[in-house]
Amino acid sequence: MKQKVIVLTGAGISAESGLNTFRDSDGLWEGYDINDVATPEAWHRNPVLVQHFYNLRRKAVLKAKPNAAHIALAELEKYYDVTIITQNIDDLHERAGSSSIIHLHGIITKSQSSVNPNLTYDINGAELAMGEKCELGSQLRPHVVWFGEAVPMIGKAAEICMLADVFMIIGTSLLVYPAAGLIDYVPADAGKILIDPKVSGVPGVSNLQIIPEKAGTGVPKAVEALIREVRSS
Ligand code: APR
Repeated sequence: MKQKVIVLTGAGISAESGLNTFRDSDGLWEGYDINDVATPEAWHRNPVLVQHFYNLRRKAVLKAKPNAAHIALAELEKYYDVTIITQNIDDLHERAGSSSIIHLHGIITKSQSSVNPNLTYDINGAELAMGEKCELGSQLRPHVVWFGEAVPMIGKAAEICMLADVFMIIGTSLLVYPAAGLIDYVPADAGKILIDPKVSGVPGVSNLQIIPEKAGTGVPKAVEALIREVRSS
């Protein structure tokens, strides 16, 4: 039976695909304050601005291509039972070929009803317009989890973390909960690998292999080492 590798990814894995991280840009997201564009209050105050912001981001995501890190994780599936838990709202893991992905914070290529988050739809192209409605007649909003909203997938993600033989953390500042707390569910004896040029450890986690590199070089290296382990066993 294949060993289980659980991978938690953040904005850093998509940086080399040209998508900016949040906290590397002075707390502004492409020049916007998150309170103006990524909260339920912002949506109530100014839905036009929120739609505009996500339409711009969707355009950037559709233009971006998976990089060597996304591709290496997809390759790892030949040797391991891999589940990716991503905080990212881009679809680069899907486009790289990974088959088991949990989007903790939603995905920007889908819309959701503004009254029932379980009603989701694919967005045709880059633009979600005001006036586009769900089957209940409510305005569609981006299918993303905003600050202050519940994270519906966290329970499923925590359960999967409990099954990890190897846990990888890639390109996340680990500042946003509940995602940052997932490592607490990983068994003590699982292998743990952290790949990030800036994050130098996780409080309370000791047996952590740290690769202080960008994802584009660090992830293929870590993946090659895991594949070598399977081949030699
Ligand atoms: N390769 C790997 N890691 C990188 C790279 C790179 N090329 N470039 C930057 N990083 C790292 C940074 O060092 C940082 O630790 O990526 C991390 C990005 O951190 P954040 O911007 O805080 O992104 P993330 O952790 O994904 O944010 C979590 O917060 O912005 C909200 O909801 C949003 O899902 C997001 C959540």
